[in-house]
This record gives sequence, C-alpha cells and structure tokens, in this order.
Amino acid sequence: MKRKKGLIAVIAVIVMLVFAFIGYNIYRYPAMPKNLTDERRTLIVYFSWSTSGNTEKMAAYIQEQTGGDLLELEPLNPYPTDYEECGDVALAERDENARPEIANLPDSISEYDTVFVGYPIWWHTAPMIIGTFLENYDLSGTNVYPFAQSASMDTEQFENSMEFVRESAAGANVHDGLFTESSDTEGILDYLTENGFVE
Ligand SMILES: Cc1cc2nc3c(=O)[nH]c(=O)nc-3n(C[C@H](O)[C@H](O)[C@H](O)COP(=O)(O)O)c2cc1C
Repeated sequence: MKRKKGLIAVIAVIVMLVFAFIGYNIYRYPAMPKNLTDERRTLIVYFSWSTSGNTEKMAAYIQEQTGGDLLELEPLNPYPTDYEECGDVALAERDENARPEIANLPDSISEYDTVFVGYPIWWHTAPMIIGTFLENYDLSGTNVYPFAQSASMDTEQFENSMEFVRESAAGANVHDGLFTESSDTEGILDYLTENGFVE
C-alpha cells in the first residue's frame, strides 16, 4: 500500500513538472508570427517623415509579420517640419546627391542577412538618407527588400528609387521591391508570402 502511494506521488510530481515545462515555454515563446523567417536574421529599417507615418505603418506591419528587428533612421539634422521647407532641403540634397548624416546609425548590421529598407518617395526617388545608410555597410550577400509608397503612387518614380537603392547597396542581392499604399496590408502580405517570409 505504501509503495503504491509512493508511486502515485512520483507520477504526480512528473505530471506537474511536465505541465510546468509546457507552461514555461508558452510564457517564454508566445505565439510567434507564423512565418518562415526563423532561419533568417531580419532587419526592417525605414525612414518616415510626414505626420501620417505611412512608411512607419508599413514597417510596423512587416515587422509584425516577419518578427524581425525594427530600426527607424533619425536624421542628425532633423528636416524642417514645414512641408515646403522640407521639400526645399530634400530637393537640394537630391540635386547634390548628398548623404545626410544619421543620428542612430548602428556600428554594424552584419548579424542580419535580410534587410527590408522602407522610405517615402521624395522628389521622384528615395530620400538621400537611404543612400547614407546603405553605403555605410558592406552588404555583399545581404538580401535587400525595398518597400515604399508615395502621394502619387507613380511606378516610374519608384523604379528610380530602386535604381538608387541598387547603386547604394553595392554587392547586395536587391530583390524586386514593394510599392503599395501603406493601408494595403493584403498587398504587403502577398509580397511577404511570395518572397517566402510568411506561409
Ligand atoms: C520632401 C518631399 C518630397 C516628396 N516628393 C514626392 C514625389 O516626388 N512624388 C510623390 O508622389 N510624392 C512625394 N512626396 C509625398 C510623400 O511621398 C508622401 O507624403 C508619403 O506618403 C510620405 O510618407 P511618410 O508618411 O512615411 O513620410 C514628397 C513628400 C515630401 C515631404
């Protein structure tokens, strides 16, 4: 009888340990996004200026779906808050092919093999700060996925920006980019699925 009680106690302890283990893992690893990126180390870097934060919205959604790390580029010299004035600064930067400094540029991004790069179209191409970021690293072998949106959604302007990204990310494997409105979560999801980030 005593032996039987002992056995029951041992089984009870084992069952409790198993449940504790399962509970701990659910707590540690809460429902991960259903994606195929576990093997990838993904960075979602973006620049967004307007108060609508359109690029920011796209970046946040991509982050949610891929589980990557998010980085918003902060210009060392913030752009004027006035639209016209910001436009003047941005146009001068484009015409001079300037590389505006970044306040929070990481020392290295070598731990990432996949980098999403997001921006609004500025003056028919990418903001020059995107060039500053991309040219700062050796991106050989890195998979780069540009994403953008704009007021006009003019695809020719997006193509110009893609050309700029390809030139700035020398050696990187620059994939076809995503150009869609920030509210188009279905389109973003399709893009992520097509590129193997989401099942
Ligand atoms: C300096 C500047 C230049 C812009 N140039 C263009 C342009 O050439 N073509 C266009 O369609 N929209 C242009 N826009 C509009 C932005 O692309 C649009 O407002 C975008 O949604 C802003 O994204 P954000 O909220 O992430 O900053 C420009 C906006 C600014 C501030």
